[in-house]
Amino acid sequence: MPDFLIVHTVLVTGAEGQLGRQVIRKSADQEVEVVGLSRLDLDITDLAAVRKRIAEPVTVINCAAYTAVDRAETDADAAYSINETGAANLARACAEVGARLIHVSTDYVFSGTSERPYEPDDPTGPKTVYGASKLAGERAIAELAPTSTIVRTAWVYTGVGTDFVATMRRLEAERDVVRVVTDQVGSPTYAADLADGLLELAELAEAPLILHATNDGATSWYEFARAIFAEIGADPDRVQPTTSAEFVRPAPRPAYSVLSSRAWGAVGLTPLRGWREALHASLAG
Ligand SMILES: NC(=O)c1ccc[n+]([C@@H]2O[C@H](COP(=O)([O-])OP(=O)(O)OC[C@H]3O[C@@H](n4cnc5c(N)ncnc54)[C@H](OP(=O)(O)O)[C@@H]3O)[C@@H](O)[C@H]2O)c1
Repeated sequence: MPDFLIVHTVLVTGAEGQLGRQVIRKSADQEVEVVGLSRLDLDITDLAAVRKRIAEPVTVINCAAYTAVDRAETDADAAYSINETGAANLARACAEVGARLIHVSTDYVFSGTSERPYEPDDPTGPKTVYGASKLAGERAIAELAPTSTIVRTAWVYTGVGTDFVATMRRLEAERDVVRVVTDQVGSPTYAADLADGLLELAELAEAPLILHATNDGATSWYEFARAIFAEIGADPDRVQPTTSAEFVRPAPRPAYSVLSSRAWGAVGLTPLRGWREALHASLAG
């Protein structure tokens, strides 16, 4: 038996984003050396810089992305540059040195018209530039580094900044009534739980090309908002129902975004807890 510990290095790109920060935070209790790379440390659209950083067989968890879903409709070049070319650069560099890529993707690669949870191999059909650019990134990774794992997730929040939970808390303080859509269904996912899942995945020797990971269960944005109000001691009836038709946005939102975690569990990964319990934990600090 060797009397030394082999420390596995994990590079986290996009380390100052919502998810990247949680991966760094949650890695503190793990026996891995985790190096967070902000956009300033590593711009994933710069292939030479990517090759320089990924020069040995580390694991890369890519949390860097263009995530401005509405802005992408009129800013496609930037979205594709980061979400397709950036992902391809990481895949290329990883394949060249035998590094492993864990890449985060989205429910927006699907059309949102399903009536049952999406499985990883279900047909894709993005309806937005953002979704199409993320799908292009997935395809580049599949071609250039097929031993990678792409983890699709959805409705990610931490409860700070401008995410849905933080926005509902702000609006609760500012308004008597908040109107929220009832006709979009998905799985709210606490970024800290997803971070745990990604770090557990990084410990698996191998995994399928595509997996889905969200907190368990499904709800509408309306019910999610009501749950947030209830959690913070506000009257949930101050959340009033509306529809997507009354709340039009530049990029259409999927009506149904539920991702099946069956494949995630089948490879031995711990299923993420139910969304309601995760919301409670997120607000408990
Ligand atoms: N948020 C959600 O609801 C959601 C849902 C499904 C899937 N996802 C996926 O989850 C992943 C993480 O999303 P998130 O919510 O953490 O997004 P986020 O908060 O917007 O973080 C993305 C990070 O990537 C950085 N970045 C942008 N361009 C870059 C580049 N060229 N090189 C290096 N870094 C760059 C951003 O830096 P700047 O801030 O400086 O631009 C930001 O720190 C993404 O793949 C996203 O598609 C998110």
